[in-house]
Amino acid sequence: MAEAGCGMTGAISDIEAFRRLVLERSGLSLGADKDYLLQSRLTPLMREEGLATLEALFARLRLDPRGRLAQRAIDAMATHESYFFRDATPFDQLRDTLLPALVARRTGARRLRIWSAACSSGQEPYSLAMLLLEERRLMPDWTVEILATDMSQPILDRARRGVYSDFEASRGLSEARRSRWLRREGGDWSIAPEVRALVEFRPHNLMDGTAGMGRFDLIFCRNVLIYFEQLQKRWALARLSEALEPDGALVLGSAETVVGLDSAFEPMPGLRGAFQPHDRSERLRA
Ligand SMILES: C[S@@+](CC[C@H](N)C(=O)[O-])C[C@H]1O[C@@H](n2cnc3c(N)ncnc32)[C@H](O)[C@@H]1O
Repeated sequence: MAEAGCGMTGAISDIEAFRRLVLERSGLSLGADKDYLLQSRLTPLMREEGLATLEALFARLRLDPRGRLAQRAIDAMATHESYFFRDATPFDQLRDTLLPALVARRTGARRLRIWSAACSSGQEPYSLAMLLLEERRLMPDWTVEILATDMSQPILDRARRGVYSDFEASRGLSEARRSRWLRREGGDWSIAPEVRALVEFRPHNLMDGTAGMGRFDLIFCRNVLIYFEQLQKRWALARLSEALEPDGALVLGSAETVVGLDSAFEPMPGLRGAFQPHDRSERLRA
């Protein structure tokens, strides 16, 4: 296997073509200030494929821009950082405000559907499942579904495995929660079966439509749109709005907002990082 080169050897036009490929296929914005990321994130892939330079990798991508290698290169440019009950506030708001309100409105259907869009290694959907199990008394015999999606197949495989290191299992989880919802497995921690049972993992790209996915009462789409270009952000928000029930809520990451994006959403009064469709009050009156 050839040694991977460390210098930025790809010609500018190649790098621009790669930026465009990543943007079109994932929405992720790789500004020129991110060139250092190209090098560090693509080097492991180049090594695996026996490619000595970025130029060689880009040449392969040009031949097959929709192939497996291109998808792996795009995945490599994404940030997969995640942890349990990330930022705490969205989960506290869900428990204290959003969930009781939704449950009150769904007593007829006795069904809740939640989408964790861009779920990475699974901590977000599993946190949602833990919280819903903790609040189960509100909806004792309801059908509760959590769909967890990501564009990256390897990260979805990890999420589905549901096995976390000591460090990962202590990030965001109190000891009480960890011993209740995770099991010791060798030196690691494994998600308990009742938590897993609520979550279905599936590949999905936020640049694609949501046909066939049905409507959700809640969508968590956190810490991903922050990496998108404006146009792609608007596009993804429009798709999310199509998949949200008219009285549902969209929850974004703490550094993300819909404000100034001319999207279908507006902030929910009194809540942080939670958004509702613009015409919610009219739709609820109808
Ligand atoms: C930083 S993680 C966020 C994980 C979790 N939502 C959280 O807040 O902890 C961002 C994830 O978004 C995924 N992603 C990036 N672009 C995407 C796209 N166009 N469609 C679906 N997932 C995408 C990445 O693969 C990555 O796993």
